[in-house]
Amino acid sequence: MTNRCTLQLTVLLCLTGAALSVNYGKLRFQQRSSNSACQDLLWQLITSPQHCLDDRMDFQIPKQVEQPQQFQKEEAMVVIYEMLQQIHGIFRRNVSNAGWNETIVENLLEELDEQMDRLETALEEIKQEGKFPWESRTVLRLKTYYLGIFQYLKAKFYSRCAWTAVQVEILRNFFFLNGLIGELQD
Ligand SMILES: *[C@@H]1O[C@H](CO)[C@@H](O)[C@H](O)[C@H]1NC(C)=O
Ligand SMILES: *[C@@H]1O[C@H](CO)[C@@H](O)[C@H](O)[C@H]1NC(C)=O
Repeated sequence: MTNRCTLQLTVLLCLTGAALSVNYGKLRFQQRSSNSACQDLLWQLITSPQHCLDDRMDFQIPKQVEQPQQFQKEEAMVVIYEMLQQIHGIFRRNVSNAGWNETIVENLLEELDEQMDRLETALEEIKQEGKFPWESRTVLRLKTYYLGIFQYLKAKFYSRCAWTAVQVEILRNFFFLNGLIGELQD
């Protein structure tokens, strides 16, 4: 009888999420330092100055990303996750023409992986609390935006100049990510 009660109590605690909660202060700190490491790595990839004026491009990042304070932290988390995943997808493409140091690209991918892992855990926890934002229009807009980047790279045959344009754009992404990370608060 006692055992059954203990079991029921445990189940109840798990269901109500009482035993789970995201430490946002810690998450924010870890994501911030990892994001800044990503920025540093991307800067290190900048090679000799190139004259790539013809390849300049306005990829039109969704305006919402530039105003992070409008997001609830739960939505900010799914927006950040979408961006990290897409950036990861970009740097997994054929970067051989970019003339980049592959070790640095690998380090960048690893750093992005770590950020995604931490967010996945946190998202799993808020999902159990029933606070998961199932739909985010910003995420849909971001999918279109990154599709544009993928199409651009393909159309430019992954040229060095095209990679330079994308690199500059992703540096801006990290800047906006930093703002979004600031919304992860208790
Ligand atoms: C990547 O691009 C280079 C240069 O265009 C090409 O030689 C190589 O086969 C490509 N690699 C892959 C995996 O597509
Ligand atoms: C690539 O970057 C790593 C880490 O910064 C460095 O140790 C290595 O020497 C670089 N390789 C080349 C070919 O520049």
